[in-house]
Amino acid sequence: MKHFVRVAIITVVFTALIGYGLDNSAYMPQLASVQGVVIDDLFRKHMWVISFLFSMITGFMVYSFVAFRQKPGETKSGDHFEGNTPLEIAWTVIPLIVVLYFAYLGAGALAETRRADPNAYNITAVGSQWSWRFDYEDYGFSSAELRLPVDRQTLLMLTSTDVIHSFWVPEFRVKQDALPGENMERELRVTPTELGSYVVRCAELCGLEHAYMLADVIVMEVSDFEAWIDEQTGEPTGDATERGAEIAQQFGCQACHSIDGSESIGPSWFGLYGRTETLSDGSTVVVDDEYLMESILNPQAAIVEGYDKVFMPPTGAGLTDEQLHDLIEFIESLGE
Ligand code: CUA
Repeated sequence: MKHFVRVAIITVVFTALIGYGLDNSAYMPQLASVQGVVIDDLFRKHMWVISFLFSMITGFMVYSFVAFRQKPGETKSGDHFEGNTPLEIAWTVIPLIVVLYFAYLGAGALAETRRADPNAYNITAVGSQWSWRFDYEDYGFSSAELRLPVDRQTLLMLTSTDVIHSFWVPEFRVKQDALPGENMERELRVTPTELGSYVVRCAELCGLEHAYMLADVIVMEVSDFEAWIDEQTGEPTGDATERGAEIAQQFGCQACHSIDGSESIGPSWFGLYGRTETLSDGSTVVVDDEYLMESILNPQAAIVEGYDKVFMPPTGAGLTDEQLHDLIEFIESLGE
């Protein structure tokens, strides 16, 4: 009996030390969403149970090494035990209750992260190899960065143009896959609680540049968010070519298309407009507004010779007519 009491004391002391240590160490990034509160709470409870199990198992083990070690002069083997029914029932039933209790807590937390606010903002997040696009469908524009109002729920509809991606902002805690195909949209609700800049990462291995499939997330005051919406939807200001250059930058076109004529993944835009290009089927085409429009909206329709092994994501499908016009103006300005 004295052995059990000693191990119990060791277990309690180590559970308290390890649990307290874990509880106070910053192993998680900053918490920045309402949905994350229940997840962190669940995580803490798990950490305490893990601290207890670790302390108990290693406590029994290390104590036994010391207390029941072979003493000098001892040559016999230890006593032999054959079964212990009450102990076996206990170590089956107690973990079963603990696991069921955590399943109950988990189901509650899951329901909490899905709790719907009828006034939520709607945004569609589209994953493509290897970028994100955010369609603000209620307002009729798309953005390469995700801007969200603070303390308001946003309902993100997730979809993909090619393979499975996964939308994950660690500070929001919640995560959801973006699946290709019709009627395969998945929902994710986020209510940011902290102003600031975050990064959405792709959390599903999706090809060569998976690790770099990032996009900025900016959480703003509601009034700033609404001003930004107005700016996006209002009358365009300035020069179409300059706006086009900005769009190209925002949507990452230059990752594949250089603007100085240097070789890249896709054809350079330098000197492109007005040039006669040979296509992969041997025909030729003069690069004009019509051809550029088709190439942006439906990249697979007519591919320039030598580039038929490269897949261009149909990112342009999310641009408004004005944005397309400005982008083509910009490409034209780099022409011959
Ligand atoms: Cu998209 Cu990994």
